[in-house]
Amino acid sequence: MIVNGTTVAVVDPTQRLLDLLRDSLGLTGVKEGCGMGECGACTVLVDGEPVCSCLVLVGQVDEKEVITIEGLDQQDALHPVQQAVIHAHASQCGFCTPGVVLSLAALLAREPNPKDDAVRKALAGNLCRCTGFGQILEAARQAV
Ligand code: FES
Ligand code: FES
Repeated sequence: MIVNGTTVAVVDPTQRLLDLLRDSLGLTGVKEGCGMGECGACTVLVDGEPVCSCLVLVGQVDEKEVITIEGLDQQDALHPVQQAVIHAHASQCGFCTPGVVLSLAALLAREPNPKDDAVRKALAGNLCRCTGFGQILEAARQAV
């Protein structure tokens, strides 16, 4: 597979994608919250679509492109969603933030001017327990 632009040869296709990214590749921006597909902290993009990496085995992403929060910046500049999260104060503890940012980035890539309802729907799988979704929604508006 390709992870953040670099080809990665997989040894164990039965390993969780989350464990490969964090433990083998050191991409600790990928977080483990629930480990069962409920919280979205482990969200990464696979061929541009957000997925819960805790639910995906490495063998399922054979020859696919994986983007983590570490690979989202563009030519050393923050992605517009990352900049907006900062400006809108849309992150407190930050545990949910990589997943939130990746879900929003995927939404804006396929729908550049989404309405608030579309943003809420895109974030339905990402739980934030401390910032609250008002500021995250504001970040989405600023990114647009
Ligand atoms: Fe994967 Fe919670 S850790 S959804
Ligand atoms: Fe703490 Fe979202 S910023 S859970």
